[in-house]
Amino acid sequence: MRKPDPQQWGPYWERPTITSFGDMFPNNYDASILEFWQRQLANRTGHIVDIACGNGALTWIGNEILNRDGGNTRITGVDFADIAPFRVLRRNRNDFPSIRFIGNTPAESLPFKDGSVDMVISQYGVEYTNLDETVPELSRVLVPAGRMSFILHDKASTIIKGATAPLDDFRTVLNDIAIHDAALRLENLYRRIRRPEARQGSTDIQGLIDTINAMANRVREIVRNYPPRSPIHLYMERLNQALDLARNNRAGNSKALICQARDALNTHIVRIEDLEAAALSPEGRQHLTALIQKEGFTIVEESVLAYRDNDNIGTILVAQR
Ligand SMILES: C[S@@+](CC[C@H](N)C(=O)[O-])C[C@H]1O[C@@H](n2cnc3c(N)ncnc32)[C@H](O)[C@@H]1O
Repeated sequence: MRKPDPQQWGPYWERPTITSFGDMFPNNYDASILEFWQRQLANRTGHIVDIACGNGALTWIGNEILNRDGGNTRITGVDFADIAPFRVLRRNRNDFPSIRFIGNTPAESLPFKDGSVDMVISQYGVEYTNLDETVPELSRVLVPAGRMSFILHDKASTIIKGATAPLDDFRTVLNDIAIHDAALRLENLYRRIRRPEARQGSTDIQGLIDTINAMANRVREIVRNYPPRSPIHLYMERLNQALDLARNNRAGNSKALICQARDALNTHIVRIEDLEAAALSPEGRQHLTALIQKEGFTIVEESVLAYRDNDNIGTILVAQR
């Protein structure tokens, strides 16, 4: 079973972004996703737990639905990563007395007493965990008449198809063309050979510049079909900046910039690979429903969720004991 790496998501949630899709939902999830949660959470009371909450996209939505009219239903977001949504999103803890976030907490081992949680919710979250351990753990913390409501990544969804389609191109740029390796070698030569005339006369430098230009042309061919702010564009921008600094003897750590460019693209690839691995196939969903039923729950809803122009952005799964 794939082991999630808390370090992988930690830095992502340090950005002031509310969802894991960056610009796609700038103000949090809306439309059919929001409507689903309104339907699930209306009039719920007690203690509700949001599993794998990230920066709390669903926790904030849940709190708004549950407590907008002065209710005091407790809602707790837990995540394996070292999250700090109040600080990162600059929200005042005192304005949200019903919300609590607990980071560094795997869903497989929750810090709640047996039968102390009224409902467990998760949005693009629970499927990242080890379901064979998580489902019994959710069952343990839920009250006898507990409920689970999930929106799950589906391998056939437009999200997964859209996110994974560029993966081969990203891997080619990072691993096969690996322009950052040549950039590091050139940066090293620029550091050793500082006089402009000596640089002009260096066949090593001129050879590397030719190599990098040829590589950049190959990358240009690949990025032609991508929107301007794609991860490959950002990678190339950073490399260009770094080489500019090195070429012009300007202050700044160009070596660090080159490594940052490489690491950022790699992190992006790993996140998408993780997303692909987490998304459920029909068999994966069957396995999950079987685990839930084994804990004495009945599946009361299981359907594909459409969102705006997308006919599938994931699967809804609701279970009641
Ligand atoms: C796609 S994000 C979901 C974020 C959030 N639910 C939302 O709707 O924006 C997946 C999250 O799962 C968390 N995660 C992965 N494995 C986990 C585990 N075993 N236990 C708890 N959280 C986990 C990651 O740290 C990450 O924050």
